[in-house]
Formats: sequence, C-alpha cells, structure tokens
Amino acid sequence: MDVKVFDNKDQASEAAFEFIKAGLANGATTLGLATGSTPIPLYKHMTDSDLDFSNITSVNLDEYVGLAPTNDQSYRYFMNEHLFNLKPFKETFVPDGLNKDAEAETKRYDQVIADHPIDIQLLGLGQNGHIGFNEPGSDFNGGTQKVHLTQSTIDANARFFEKEADVPTYAYSMGIGSIMKSKKILLLAFGENKADAIQKMVEGKPTEDVPASALQNHADVTIMIDKAAASKL
Ligand code: GLP
Repeated sequence: MDVKVFDNKDQASEAAFEFIKAGLANGATTLGLATGSTPIPLYKHMTDSDLDFSNITSVNLDEYVGLAPTNDQSYRYFMNEHLFNLKPFKETFVPDGLNKDAEAETKRYDQVIADHPIDIQLLGLGQNGHIGFNEPGSDFNGGTQKVHLTQSTIDANARFFEKEADVPTYAYSMGIGSIMKSKKILLLAFGENKADAIQKMVEGKPTEDVPASALQNHADVTIMIDKAAASKL
C-alpha cells in the first residue's frame, strides 16, 4: 500500500484529482466511483476541470435498498448532483435500489462489473473499516450483495437524513472480491474519526473484521489521507 499523508483534505483531494487525471491519460476508461462526503472535493475538481468524460464509463459501489433515483438521499441522486449532471459520462451504473428481487439485482450488477472491468476504483472508508457497504464480516471474495447495515453505519449516515428512522437498513453493494479485481485502487479518508480504521487497515493483519484490510492483498493501492486520519499510524 502506498500511503500518502497530506496536511489537509484539500491537498489530498487535489492529489486525488491528479491521480485520476493521470490514470485517464494512461488509458483508463472505466472508473469505479464512491459516495459519501469524502469524494465531494475530488468531484468538484473533476467538474471544474476541462477533462472530457464523454468516453468514460462509471460503475458505482453501492445504493440504498428502497430509495428511488429521485430521492435526494439515494446514491444515484448524489452522483447526478455532484458529478454526472455537470460532466456527462458515456455510461453510468449504480445498483437499482428499487429492485425488490435481491438475487436478480446482485446478479445483474455482477454482470455490469464483468462487462466493464474497473481501471481505477475510488473508495472512501467507513469508521468501522467498511468499503462500499461491505460491513465487518464480509467475505473477501464476495460479489455484489444485499447487505444489512450495521448500527454504526446507520448512526454515521444518519447526519444526511432528517431523522435516524429514515436511514435505510439495507443496501446493495459491490463485493470485496469485485473491488479487488480493479486494476488500481485509490482510497481517500479524512478526519480523526477515520484514524482507527486507517490504522487497522494499514498496520493490522488482514481480517474480515476490518473489510478494508483486504486491500493489503491488492498489488496497486494508493491511500490518500490527511494528518488527522493518519494520527494513529
Ligand atoms: C457510506 C458509503 C461508503 C463511504 C462511507 C464513508 O457508508 N457506503 O462508500 O465510504 O459512507 O462516508 P464519508 O465519506 O461521508 O465519511
């Protein structure tokens, strides 16, 4: 793992933008994208830039089960608002949170990933070490799954909803096995509340208790974090 520590998240986000830009210049055509507050400054760099994404495909990590694309808390809505409406992509994929048939949806999304191998996968990090919505205990070799969110994830994400009862309890998430098939991985994490997860991910033994620790087994992972997130290394 190549761990790069920056003074603050603005500097890290600028470096992340340069990383994506270099990847595209080197021929990347499919980006794996993430939601959450962490990638927002990176997406702002992308939308402010003169980069052309009209030949680029994106495959997002996850979506809440039960939320429509028009719901302002859905990840499809988030991606449209922060990136796709401002920078047209060739094609954009996000799991379909309205598909009630979990088996069909997870199969469909695995096929999307197989048909569009990911050149660069962008990741955030949950406070409990989750990536995408792969909670502790997730199979390191797994494909897309319907996940029951942990209380810690529901609590962490409640800040985006009017009340905690509105936070969905299930999500569809790309599996760790699929994330590991990406050619390159770029993980971003900012702030003191990510320091424990960063320490376990980088210095702990790979264990399913810390989903992000699987990344130690990937040959091309770059971690860009601020000083606060690096404070326990
Ligand atoms: C959610 C998303 C993750 C994201 C995490 C961290 O759980 N499913 O992909 O990494 O939140 O969010 P934030 O970046 O807001 O800290």
